Amino acid sequence: MKLWGGRFRKGENKLMESFNSSLAIDKRLVYEDITGSLSHIKMLIASEILTELEGNKIIEGLNSILSDIENNDLLIKGDYEDIHSFIETNLIERIGETGKKLHTARSRNDQIAVDIRLYAKKKSTEVIEAVELLQNNLKKKADENAAIMPGYTHLQRAQVVTFKHHLMAYFQMVDRDKKRLENAVALMDESPLGCGALAGTTHNINRDFTAKALGFKKPVNNFLDGVSDRDYLLELMSCFSILMMHLSRLSEELILWSTQEFNFIEIDDAYSTGSSIMPQKRNPDSAELIRGKTGRVYGDLFSLLTTMKGLPLAYNKDMQEDKEPFFDSIDTTLSCLEVMASIIDTLEVNKEVMGKSVKNGFLNATDLADYLVKKGVYFRDAHSIVGSIVIFCEDNEKSIEELSLEELKSFSSVIKEDIYEYLDYQKSMNKGIKKTLLK
Ligand code: ARG
Repeated sequence: MKLWGGRFRKGENKLMESFNSSLAIDKRLVYEDITGSLSHIKMLIASEILTELEGNKIIEGLNSILSDIENNDLLIKGDYEDIHSFIETNLIERIGETGKKLHTARSRNDQIAVDIRLYAKKKSTEVIEAVELLQNNLKKKADENAAIMPGYTHLQRAQVVTFKHHLMAYFQMVDRDKKRLENAVALMDESPLGCGALAGTTHNINRDFTAKALGFKKPVNNFLDGVSDRDYLLELMSCFSILMMHLSRLSEELILWSTQEFNFIEIDDAYSTGSSIMPQKRNPDSAELIRGKTGRVYGDLFSLLTTMKGLPLAYNKDMQEDKEPFFDSIDTTLSCLEVMASIIDTLEVNKEVMGKSVKNGFLNATDLADYLVKKGVYFRDAHSIVGSIVIFCEDNEKSIEELSLEELKSFSSVIKEDIYEYLDYQKSMNKGIKKTLLK
């Protein structure tokens, strides 16, 4: 069952065998592994390294293995070292001696490198699609809710914004995530197949052939780099980490807004859970889990960064440890995107509560300062005048818009009746660049 063993005088220790085996993890690359092998064999035929007869026999064998796996007639398990050994051993059992030619002019080092690049490219597309779904849902919910709400800095009420503009901020964040992912995919779009173990091969193989057949832009430039590069996984995991940070910030706001203290939104029952002891509870577990899982994805990135640190060229077995964190980060990111898209889709927005909240906290103070500036007051003076008005309001338990024109005029003679257009939250929304908040 081993792909090696010729130079060994005694067998592998059982504990070592299971310690070394990665089949339980890398079995997920079965499709990419067979796809890579099929292209490799087609190239070997085209380069006259295998005869057509031999090559086609191998191709048939690989295809039958793949269809048996897809139909559950062949289960990927047993004492195999990895997915590569599993496929090759099964191929030889199935088609006989010719199967032993599969690995001609190839190493598992370039094999795994091409497998994981193919897989990473495919999964990145899935993440990009999941981001697009979230974007659609954000846009839809935003368009339905152009209502005003308090905007915050330091989590203190600051100025009026719209729920739409607030939600669309997240649209922009994940839009950058999408572009980051597209850039990462473009950068990794080179085939390492044909690098061999580290030094190429004395066979006259055609790396352009396999690169093209597997959908890569070109083969990598350097053999040692090709087999030992995992930058693309790190880069994708960095993209996932930033993306998760965005989802986590959104989760935090959803959690906060769904408290009785805020009561701005309601997360749908379908994405909430209850308490085993407190019958009245309705908890925003979906958003909390996304916030929590963000830590997992950061950890995955750091796990591989730490594994790669200090590795000499070229392949080292340490690199087998790339898969668990990468698979985990991609699974986690995908599921979080999916759940977040559904939370947004089913979100109830309490426009009335948000509209009322705007009235407390002097959110029109900056608009009032703008008004004074338009009437010729220096901004720094306007700032100070409005500060005094706020103190007056606090002392008299009033909001600025509740003050009479006389009261307002006592702070500055430039104030006229048109002031109320600036103090009205809805009307001020139509002034200047603020209109953007509604669009
Ligand atoms: N299972 C290995 C990995 O994932 C495949 C490459 C093994 N190469 C070797 N020379 N042992 O990295």
